[in-house]
Amino acid sequence: MRSGFFFVLAIFGWVSCQTGSPPQEVVNVPDLESIYTRGASIAQSSQAALLEQVSRAITAGGPDFAVAFCHEKAGPVIDSLARANDCRIHRISDRYRNPSNQPANEAEFALMMDYFNRKIVGDTVLLSDNHPVFYRPIVLGLETCLKCHGQPGTDIAASTLEKIQERYPTDQATGYRMHDVRGLWKISFPVRAED
Ligand code: HEC
Repeated sequence: MRSGFFFVLAIFGWVSCQTGSPPQEVVNVPDLESIYTRGASIAQSSQAALLEQVSRAITAGGPDFAVAFCHEKAGPVIDSLARANDCRIHRISDRYRNPSNQPANEAEFALMMDYFNRKIVGDTVLLSDNHPVFYRPIVLGLETCLKCHGQPGTDIAASTLEKIQERYPTDQATGYRMHDVRGLWKISFPVRAED
């Protein structure tokens, strides 16, 4: 996938030459390596924050109680990570539980499916309106995830399912198995991300 990004950069460079643009326009092209490094570190910290919240909540009150913790209770930690790193942090999924976590457009949906079908593994950086956006797959790596995203009736207790459906009436995020790609971290940087 990195080669795709270099291709975009190559086109950008070519257009700049064709139009004789002044060199300062080229400065806007972000430092790719720094986006990969920063994106990876932010995604890792965000994942750790969420995992800590949800594990603590499950220990305290079981999965039914923890339904409220897979996102919003970790919100302040994620928000402060976003502020400190001058970026926006989202999770997206083709089979989203919270409709605000759906892919932003068809291209992002297609990227999500390429990850789900393992056509892509690892991290990706793409340009969206000149903004570098970092993506990292969220793989269902713990049995705990199945308590809220696995098979209803076997992995997910009836009472937990009820709590989920109460809160998310259009939920699509069940029926997953271990090691499935559940979604993507999406870290969006401003144009001059290396500043
Ligand atoms: C206690 C129940 C529970 C557990 C356990 C749980 N989740 Fe979730 N998950 C949720 C809820 C509720 C949401 C919706 C959060 C929101 O409103 O943004 C969610 C949302 C998500 C999303 C965002 C996309 C979407 O569907 O809205 C991802 C990705 C995700 N979970 C992955 C995981 C992974 C990976 C694990 C295991 C480490 C896990 N979850 C464990 C309840 C859970």
